[in-house]
Amino acid sequence: MEIKKLIDLGWQALDDSIIYYYDRPVGTVAAQDSSTDPLNYDQCFIRDFIPCGIAFLIKGQTEIVKNFLTHTLKLQIKERQLDFLEPGRGIMPASFKVIHNKQGEQYLKADFGNDAIGRVTPVDSCLWWVFLLRAYVECTEEYSFAHSPEVQKCIRLIMELCLSARFDMFPTLLVPDGSCMIDRRMGLNGHPLEIQVLFYTALKVAEELLLDNQENDRIIQAVHNRLNPLTIHIRQHYWLDLDRINTIYRYKGEEYGEEAPNQFNIYSDSIPYAQLSEWLPEDGGYLAGNLGPSQLDCRFFSVGNLVAILSSLTENWQSQAIMNTIEQKWDDLVGYMPMKICFPAIKDRDWQIMTGCDPKNRPWSYHNGGNWPVLLWLLVACAQKTDRINISKKAIEIAMKRLLKDEWAEYYDGKNGRLVGKEARKYQTWTISGFLVAQELMNNPEYLQWISFAQKK
Ligand code: GLC
Repeated sequence: MEIKKLIDLGWQALDDSIIYYYDRPVGTVAAQDSSTDPLNYDQCFIRDFIPCGIAFLIKGQTEIVKNFLTHTLKLQIKERQLDFLEPGRGIMPASFKVIHNKQGEQYLKADFGNDAIGRVTPVDSCLWWVFLLRAYVECTEEYSFAHSPEVQKCIRLIMELCLSARFDMFPTLLVPDGSCMIDRRMGLNGHPLEIQVLFYTALKVAEELLLDNQENDRIIQAVHNRLNPLTIHIRQHYWLDLDRINTIYRYKGEEYGEEAPNQFNIYSDSIPYAQLSEWLPEDGGYLAGNLGPSQLDCRFFSVGNLVAILSSLTENWQSQAIMNTIEQKWDDLVGYMPMKICFPAIKDRDWQIMTGCDPKNRPWSYHNGGNWPVLLWLLVACAQKTDRINISKKAIEIAMKRLLKDEWAEYYDGKNGRLVGKEARKYQTWTISGFLVAQELMNNPEYLQWISFAQKK
């Protein structure tokens, strides 16, 4: 297949996925697959729209991105609920759709997890929203939009929600299971990496875009106060490489007080040493999936690790080590379709307990070790940022062979990602836009500056 044709078909399919609200483009459906019950795949998901929004920005179609930001901003919960039964102020929905009523009027109906399968909480939505806002401003230089009272209030509410008083001592965010891309039970409750990395990115954007005025004063202070401890906490305590796993191997337990080296009371028996010490490359490393009392989840989660590189949450040497891991463990982490959402899969009794026997998340399927082509844009962006062009080239080549043939499948199954996902949708919009963004980034690495952050001096 000629690359140009593939790209043209991709843009066409992306165009076909656009949702209109009073004749104006506001978002994209999650998938256009008429062969199965759409469930909520006919809605616009905030997280799914991110690579689409970036693709539209690259194409110069900035209007749809601005409309998306403006309308989702209106859906944000702004009032404090007296019965405390509604979702909290600042939260953004997981998805929305346009409803046409009998009077010929249209309105947007949002799902804050009230209808979603498993009633999961979309914590990541408001954080991704801020990420896209920043990309929009970097692309258009329309600072007046970011500085408008509505957008300033929106950022403030998101920050207030993230920075409010809580039952926790960590600088990270405490969230329920299924609150991010993996929106089903998968043992991600507590302090999952993906949410922490998006939180960090949102704090950086708030620092950049909040106007220095009296109204923002307290929030800006709180943002500054949180950034440093959060950075240190993730860089030190989530980091896994051979030195770290050696240290953890010899940890003593039951330590009390400020000076304790084993602050989280991690028992080395809980770490899968047999696999990990063999698997981890000499010059590799990555951020662990979750951290809590006597818990260090050693699974490799792609979104968290990749966005950490983009946002410069990891130091340069750590970003290089993550890319080394991906390069040297290619068959495990990339295989036949870039790339695995997480590795390894959880099995047997772990699968039963952690997923609640979820058949969709069987080992090496869907969220439990499946391969998700949407991740291509993040992988390529990170490869560009860390100057590892060979990785981007190789990843795009692999993806190109199958994307069209498999009709832009949502995900792939199997240890090496060779099977089209058992219940994967076809014409999955973020698969399409993920490829287009990756392809554009290869040709014009300057787009990287819209989605990445420089290392702090
Ligand atoms: C699945 C994914 C979720 C995505 C949704 C729509 O539920 O896990 O991340 O937003 O599909 O594509």
